[in-house]
Amino acid sequence: MMKPIPRTSVPGASRGAPASWSLPRALAVACLLVTQLAHADLKPAPSSALPAEDGYRLWLRYVPVAGPWRSRYRAGATELVGADASPTLRAARAELLRGLTGLLQLQPQSMTSVTRDGAIVFGTPRSSALVKSLPLDLRQAGTEGYLIRTLTIDGHGATVIAANTDVGVLYGAFGFLRLLQTRQPIRHLDIASSPKISRRVLDHWDNLNGSVERGYAGDSLWKWESLPEYLSPRYTDYARACASIGINGAVLDNVNASPFILTPFYLRKVAALAGVLRPYGIRVYLSVPFSAPVSLGKLKSADPLDPRVQAWWSAKVAEIYRDIPDFGGLLMKANSEGQPGPEDYGRTQAQGANTLARALAPHGGIVMWRAFVYTTAARSEDRAKQAYDTFKPLDGKFADNVLVQVKNGPFDFQPREPFHPLFGAMPHTHLMPELQITKEYLGQRTSIVYLGPLFQEVLRADTWTRGAGSTVARVIDGSLYGERLTAIAGVANTGSLRNWSGSIFNQANWYAFGRLAWDPDLSARDIAAEWVAMTFTSDPHFLTPVVTMMMESREAAVDYMTPLGLAGQMAAQTHFGPAPWVAPSAGLPPDWSSTYYSRADASGIGFDRTATGSDAVAQYSPHLAALWGNPATCPDDLLLWFHHLSWDYRMRSGETLWDSLVGHYDRGVAWVKQARATWSTLAPYVDPQRFQLTANFLAIEQKDAQWWRDASIAYFQSISHRPLPAGVAAPPDTLAHYEAFCVPYVEGTPAPGPGCPPADLAVPR
Ligand code: GCU
Repeated sequence: MMKPIPRTSVPGASRGAPASWSLPRALAVACLLVTQLAHADLKPAPSSALPAEDGYRLWLRYVPVAGPWRSRYRAGATELVGADASPTLRAARAELLRGLTGLLQLQPQSMTSVTRDGAIVFGTPRSSALVKSLPLDLRQAGTEGYLIRTLTIDGHGATVIAANTDVGVLYGAFGFLRLLQTRQPIRHLDIASSPKISRRVLDHWDNLNGSVERGYAGDSLWKWESLPEYLSPRYTDYARACASIGINGAVLDNVNASPFILTPFYLRKVAALAGVLRPYGIRVYLSVPFSAPVSLGKLKSADPLDPRVQAWWSAKVAEIYRDIPDFGGLLMKANSEGQPGPEDYGRTQAQGANTLARALAPHGGIVMWRAFVYTTAARSEDRAKQAYDTFKPLDGKFADNVLVQVKNGPFDFQPREPFHPLFGAMPHTHLMPELQITKEYLGQRTSIVYLGPLFQEVLRADTWTRGAGSTVARVIDGSLYGERLTAIAGVANTGSLRNWSGSIFNQANWYAFGRLAWDPDLSARDIAAEWVAMTFTSDPHFLTPVVTMMMESREAAVDYMTPLGLAGQMAAQTHFGPAPWVAPSAGLPPDWSSTYYSRADASGIGFDRTATGSDAVAQYSPHLAALWGNPATCPDDLLLWFHHLSWDYRMRSGETLWDSLVGHYDRGVAWVKQARATWSTLAPYVDPQRFQLTANFLAIEQKDAQWWRDASIAYFQSISHRPLPAGVAAPPDTLAHYEAFCVPYVEGTPAPGPGCPPADLAVPR
């Protein structure tokens, strides 16, 4: 677990060697070009010949299939046979028509029975007598899944997309189109697919004023000012994109919630959005503030045990369900980062959650109660321990319709953290992971970082709470402890920009979240390959290097930002760029500083979370506590998370810790240089607009990686007083220079003012 991904494509990646054009590389590229010319079906058009694309169509581009695949697919898509019995089935038909027409440049005829080979039959036993009559075992499809089978119907070869529910058919339609988009054979299909997790939710941190907390893709998707009358077509395209990857829930507003969302004025708008999303199987949920009974209900208290408070929540929830009968439920951030919560009234988190749960239960709604608490009485305690210490004693005390929503790691969406110790530690409580799709700490809009490997690392992490194989995925999909209510959340990266996610490659993170939410056992690499094929091309000359680049990109960011288990070294508030020197200051919590996490001093670096330190390691299973608690057996990539070690500590590689640290920073920078070089060879396969955007963003990432590397080495060297390893370039500027530089405003930062003092602005980067 937590193994660094081998860096196969970084030939010059040691000690900051510049990634230049070596002879072998030039030969490889020359060979590639020759191969391309010999490969008629895959012959790349010059980039200028491809029409410019702005990324709006995401992975649902449905561009014409060329070569032999086109005739094969055309033979398998001659007519569409299915009933339009519901808006969801109409959406399935519309998507099949849109997809097949785009891909095959030919419109299959709509028929009521199978009349020739190549028919596509879709429906449920309830909506279609034909589907009902077929020899299909639909038990495998469950409530939301589907079957795609090749069958002979009335003497004709047909593809059947069948499900128990209309939304299952819709998912099956997208699944079928994906086969074509990724150039899979479709002549002998026998596919059964159903989601392993029942609630697959996007958390939008969108504010009612149109801004998005930690959003790097423009403003909010929701245009509150023109709702409910105007329903932007983007809402439908958002729903299509979500449904195509199986997302079935959307929390519309920020966890730092405004009570206004619960007013009739806004609830009407919420209901209108729910109406657009419903045919696509997406329920809406809302984030609400714990103090709403006071701010909105004008009660004297929000004490969850006060009957007036309970009555207020029940009435408010009933009001929501009157207009939105399939409303999903409420998301709550309580006693966290200044938000009010039950602890303000001497009540537990469970008592708070259960009050909401009781209000929601009669309507079938759920509570997603966040475990991201760290403003507790235990302020002086290691922040990484606080959620566990608060929630673990409450195991079994939460109502049946409550899920405790736990961030993937014990701190806050860092480039790397160990998995959260609550996973596996609350066998009598429904737990749902919260992953972050928006890249708050991972380069935000411009880095190319693909989060598939991070999500996969968390889901596959073995908690050991029931022996080997007790992975986080098994904790949350209910297979370890038998929960029936299962869920997963991803903090969305969508916004008002045409390309939805701020960059083309950020779209892959939305895609990967959805695919893993459907099936946490999928591989991040396979998902990347699917996404590349659908978003760009399935040509292996493009797909292979780009998938490799994506798979390595997150580890590269770990290297140039926070290697070896470091965390929290980003600038305060904006969380962008290096600021390892930020020390606790008056008025701010100490864990909002960087030195709190690095603990770098003359004796060494790292946070001692063993028994001699905060003992956070004891929150993990005894197996992991023993493994991680000993620096000799702790994986390198978590070393400084758990241990404070001398700068001269000998790593398993034989290097000193200091040399190894410096090597990681250099490796990260070298990787980005190499990725840029690789991308520059791929212009023939991409339209000029998306090619250029990515090329420019890679240039920005290279600059940022260099900044991270230089600033971090300058700072840590001022403490370690160790020389740089032979051949390593010194940072070009003084530490004072890096310390003085600060990016004042960053998109998505919640603070209203600049993130750095005015005096600092005089110093250019
Ligand atoms: C992070 C993030 C905040 C966010 C918080 C949360 O701390 O920086 O903007 O509100 O997480 O998850 O609640």
